Amino acid sequence: MRTQVGIVGAGPAGLLLSHLLHLQGIESVVLERHSRDDVEAIIKAGVLEQGSVDLMNEIGAGERMMKEGFRHEGIVLRFAGRDERIDFPSLTGGKSVMIYSQHDVIKDLVKVRLATGGDIRFEAKDLSVYDLDTDAPKIRYRSKEREVEEITCDFIAGCDGTQGVCRPSIPAGVLNVYERLYPFGWFGILCKAAPSSEELIYSMHERGFVLVSTRSPDIQRMYFQCAPTEKTDGWSDDRIWHEFRARLETKDGWAPKEGPIFSKTVIGMRSLVVEPMRYGRLFLAGDSAHVVPPTGAKGLNLAATDAQILARAIIAYYKSNRSDLLDQYSDTALRRIWKATRFSWWMTSMLHTFPGADAFQHRLQIAELDYVTRSRAASTALAENYVGLPIE
Ligand code: PHB
Repeated sequence: MRTQVGIVGAGPAGLLLSHLLHLQGIESVVLERHSRDDVEAIIKAGVLEQGSVDLMNEIGAGERMMKEGFRHEGIVLRFAGRDERIDFPSLTGGKSVMIYSQHDVIKDLVKVRLATGGDIRFEAKDLSVYDLDTDAPKIRYRSKEREVEEITCDFIAGCDGTQGVCRPSIPAGVLNVYERLYPFGWFGILCKAAPSSEELIYSMHERGFVLVSTRSPDIQRMYFQCAPTEKTDGWSDDRIWHEFRARLETKDGWAPKEGPIFSKTVIGMRSLVVEPMRYGRLFLAGDSAHVVPPTGAKGLNLAATDAQILARAIIAYYKSNRSDLLDQYSDTALRRIWKATRFSWWMTSMLHTFPGADAFQHRLQIAELDYVTRSRAASTALAENYVGLPIE
């Protein structure tokens, strides 16, 4: 069969791209190797930048998010036993963020895509992409019904994440890969408890970083910095709460609300960017082209802006017979991606305790946090990055 745009991966980048194209009358087929249930269950962070919230609303997928998501107008930075708040609206001309899980974003996008006649093929196995440097790139895969199918496309969007097949299908020597591994990971828990705080707390402590986040009025998400190789086995609930309490102590005796822990996972931390995000008629978008450590809450948002930039370029190709935006796609996307990569690296460096760091380093980190929270210029820099930089 033929389609205009073959999209590999039904994550935020692929689904958004498919829907943005549909709204302009451009057809696409989305291929996903997991089942619908599985993609809708991948529990990931959920901080939507102002621009991602606006996008979900503009494309008609924002209704549940506006009802069930939580608008946050600031974050708390905790250090040296005290809390300092960064207020987003007053520093960014009224912008804020929305706490709404990635799997909920996926559910809403799948629903709106299927309701508008979208073609999403789940459980597409053994997928490969080829003829990428021709005018007719192709996707071959084995369908759920075990038939081998081939789709000839005008363009292919590689939205299939870090483990996907699209990036490795680009010939050796084309891509430059920039990578930074961090010497720690995050130990994440989900627990049944009421929120400990109205806003997210990013806490710097000599024992290591802690993030107090939330999922719902009765489920909380928290993380503490751990060794990258840490195993969850040795961590009883008691030991975990002891560690959280020790790292979150304040001068006025604040403590997190505790409850039964029903999920424990360790996640690695790295930064990765590949350049360019295009080879022939294959365009990479989202995690297939870049990964950020979660400290800046940028992953999902970068996928959303890649999809917007790519959609705009593909629409200009079909509607105005222009390929300049396609030619600029990689540069335009990377300008913003590198800024988000810098912000995520900076938040990570400022808030974590690096192995071997001494008291001098710790004092510098406190000074930096003190400066960031007291200088209007510095807190504006944090706030405008956190709520999301414009596409330029
Ligand atoms: C989360 O809720 O999982 C979360 C929130 C903010 C971050 C990272 C993760 O920066």
